Amino acid sequence: MSKYDWGGFYDKNDEYCFKQNAYFEILKALNKRFTACLDLGCGKGRHLAMLSSISDEVYGLDIIEYDSKNYKEFIVEDARTYNYGEINFDFIFSNGLLHHFSKNEVFDIINEISKCVKHNSVFIFNLHSKEDYKFGKGVNITTDEFVFHEGKEKGQLHSFWEQEEIIQMINKCNFKMIKMLHKSQNGYACWYCLASRNQPPLLINEN
Ligand SMILES: C[S@@+](CC[C@H](N)C(=O)[O-])C[C@H]1O[C@@H](n2cnc3c(N)ncnc32)[C@H](O)[C@@H]1O
Repeated sequence: MSKYDWGGFYDKNDEYCFKQNAYFEILKALNKRFTACLDLGCGKGRHLAMLSSISDEVYGLDIIEYDSKNYKEFIVEDARTYNYGEINFDFIFSNGLLHHFSKNEVFDIINEISKCVKHNSVFIFNLHSKEDYKFGKGVNITTDEFVFHEGKEKGQLHSFWEQEEIIQMINKCNFKMIKMLHKSQNGYACWYCLASRNQPPLLINEN
């Protein structure tokens, strides 16, 4: 994935913030405060206020060093190679990152997170669904994975996901899916997921 300046992009495109509403819905399912949260692929920190409201400390991690002083610590690392056991996280949050990786890479990242975090940890993330307007654009690399050949994301891979395969992947990584929403707006369509290391599965679908 190229080091595209997403921070600047969001500054100029407020409408992309609609996605935050999905997270407020997801968070309603949680009756819990966290001690250490990691905002994975955090960019300039759009979700910092939301995450700080339910976690004592929030760390940001991004491959680009953004000037985001309000995190407890800003970690400049690649999500694919970071040692998730370095800090004792009980909450991992990731918006807008994982669909930029191949399905194998997404599995590896989540599996690594699962091995390293506390047993009662929670993982909230999103992945693009096949209803997204970008689905099928670019060069088809393998099933539901495309590399764009034009636009600001030229050369980047995007993976698109079905509900059942996300659940299966999460289970293989020893997480349980607690809540899953499908949201679409302006052509963008994503799965928003709340997974936990120790709670019984409960699936709620809303549009
Ligand atoms: C679409 S932006 C989302 C930013 C932020 N989560 C938000 O919602 O505002 C994706 C972010 O992932 C970061 N990123 C891309 N590849 C990465 C990698 N391999 N490891 C960590 N971060 C990465 C980008 O620099 C960018 O800030």
